[in-house]
Amino acid sequence: MVATPSPQRVSELEREARAALAASADEAALERWRTATLGRSGTLTQLLRSLGTLDATARREVGAAANTLKNALEAALEARREQLRAAALAADVHAGTLDVTLPGRPRRRGALHPVTQTLREILAAFTRMGFDTVEGPEVELDEYNFERLRIPADHPARDMWDTFWLDEGEGAARLLLRTHTSPMQIRYMDAHQPPIRIAVPGRCYRYEATDATHEWMMQQVELLVVDEGVSMADLKGTLQEFARALFGPERRVMMRNSYFPFVEPGVELAVDCFVCDGPPRPDCSVCRGSGWIEIMGAGMVHPEMIARAGYDAQRYTGFAAGMGVERIAMLKYGVDDIRHFYANDLRFLRQF
Ligand code: PHE
Repeated sequence: MVATPSPQRVSELEREARAALAASADEAALERWRTATLGRSGTLTQLLRSLGTLDATARREVGAAANTLKNALEAALEARREQLRAAALAADVHAGTLDVTLPGRPRRRGALHPVTQTLREILAAFTRMGFDTVEGPEVELDEYNFERLRIPADHPARDMWDTFWLDEGEGAARLLLRTHTSPMQIRYMDAHQPPIRIAVPGRCYRYEATDATHEWMMQQVELLVVDEGVSMADLKGTLQEFARALFGPERRVMMRNSYFPFVEPGVELAVDCFVCDGPPRPDCSVCRGSGWIEIMGAGMVHPEMIARAGYDAQRYTGFAAGMGVERIAMLKYGVDDIRHFYANDLRFLRQF
């Protein structure tokens, strides 16, 4: 039998419900209490349902009180639940089943990839020397990757860059994955006037077997400087300053003559082997017994390219260089195999 809804009935119900809630001491009891009070056929729900039997004035008064009570009881249930949870935790701590001195699980912090860190350091060194950083496309035309760098289709120098070709096309329009960042020399000179002082970072691709110092994908930073009166001394000074900035004063650098069709004269910059670190060991897998690791090619921009860019070749000269970022990272961190960088082994990567 359901009592007639009235303000007294509402207060009575509240008293009973609060007492029952206070007596509920675990999750199961709380759930029973919820069903009995707020559930579909719970006491408060029934009271709310029977409001229809009242006249309008009484219905408004009792209805408001009953709804307020419903909200209050729902809040009281949550509060009781929280109280029981805290009490249970306190009991656990007290009983010693929970070791609050156990260290938390540290959140692992990610870090920049060692090659990215090295790349940023390289660019920072050149930024300090007044270079702008610009980027170019990885999918390139034969025209920029080879032709206009004075490497025509039948030129033996093409063998220096084993190429991933992207289509069956022919000649200058054929697409490829750039084998070096040098195509940006041409693209940049086409679009700008001297003075030029740029560093061009980017990925390059070579269709070749991998070993301790070769990967099929690697990153380069290209340098291009064109201005009046730029000489070999500027090239040497800039690269020496760079080598000191990255490797410290104790590493030695060596320039020796080399050949690239787009520079004249061409040089190769090498750093002394950090693995041997002294007299070269014949079995060294990094320098192969030579004592030197080549880190970049460089040279004076070929006058033909200056002229083709539309500059006055009598007035302007320039130098260019291209370096391998992974090789520089190997030197910096003493990594003896370039393949570690892209093997995605966290045991390796976490060391940086
Ligand atoms: N592009 C050359 C290479 O990838 C390096 C280079 C750049 C040489 C600029 C000279 C001048 O091997």
